Amino acid sequence: MIAWTDRHCRHFHRQLSRRARLYTEMITTGALIHGPRERLLAFDPVEHPVAIQLGGCDPADLARCARMAERAGYDEINLNCGCPSERVQRGAFGACLMAEPALVADCVRAMRDAVSVPVTVKHRIGLDRNEDYGFVRDFVGELTLAGCELFIVHARNAWLKGLNPKENRDIPPLRYEVVRRLVRDFPDRRFVLNGGIRSHDEALRLLEEPAPGALAGVMLGREAYGNPWMLVEVDTLYFGQAPTVGSREPVVDAMRAYVRREAAAGTEPRAIIRHMLGLFNGLPGARRWRRMLSDPAALAREGERIIDTALETLARPREPAAAAL
Ligand SMILES: Cc1cc2nc3c(=O)[nH]c(=O)nc-3n(C[C@H](O)[C@H](O)[C@H](O)COP(=O)(O)O)c2cc1C
Repeated sequence: MIAWTDRHCRHFHRQLSRRARLYTEMITTGALIHGPRERLLAFDPVEHPVAIQLGGCDPADLARCARMAERAGYDEINLNCGCPSERVQRGAFGACLMAEPALVADCVRAMRDAVSVPVTVKHRIGLDRNEDYGFVRDFVGELTLAGCELFIVHARNAWLKGLNPKENRDIPPLRYEVVRRLVRDFPDRRFVLNGGIRSHDEALRLLEEPAPGALAGVMLGREAYGNPWMLVEVDTLYFGQAPTVGSREPVVDAMRAYVRREAAAGTEPRAIIRHMLGLFNGLPGARRWRRMLSDPAALAREGERIIDTALETLARPREPAAAAL
């Protein structure tokens, strides 16, 4: 998720689940080919399994970038066919690629020929107000012929005109039944359901339909970012393994060490700490934790020590309402 799932965020999330597959922000082929490639590809080995998401529409460029990403060590190359932003539309990639399945198939073929890690596609279920199932079925069908084996489906249309990206994540209705139909129609392909999932209960219920095991997985975006502690249940609920950690303290300790290490390399503590604001959500003091960690003056003054100061405020009893004003 652009501006959210950078390598610092992924490092943090990896402290909470060993098994969840993490995805980078969308990185465009233009940025990788002409921009700060090393910085864009950098990740810490602890992040595995980690997939890179590419944005682009030129088969040769995508093949080149997929090769760079494989060499950098990514476990999966994912092509973005779901972003509706105007900037991305001007570049003729993202969601508008759904209107050009033959071109996307060429992109997938070129990337598959270039790398041996899986090449996957993330897409919507339609464009604008067209809710015809045949549109997404034919899109998936064409990519199936190109060898795409896994599809991550954000189960709502992208309205290319009239909505900004944020509205495009909320307003077009969710239609999970379309994903279930794809699952039935393409039994030898794997589908991951995305869009609007707010809890593990909901995710586990969705994984039972149309039959247990029919979906390859679920992808959570905003909820996992906003309430990262939910990730601690992933290893147990979905993989039958012991949780990575039993409490928030070791996570905070690991992140404090990470902030220190990164500071030595010139990273501002704020760039890391901003991803941790939701860690105590649902617990007393969560608001104070958030407020403290997002206070620019306090961050500038205290650097990484702000984590400990914020922890202390969590431990303190709640201030009287009048004092809080
Ligand atoms: C800030 C933000 C940035 C996003 N950037 C991307 C992106 O780079 N690539 C992508 O495929 N989806 C991106 N998305 C969409 C999410 O991956 C996801 O498909 C969408 O939010 C629906 O899932 P959710 O309801 O679980 O959040 C972004 C979402 C947000 C909130």
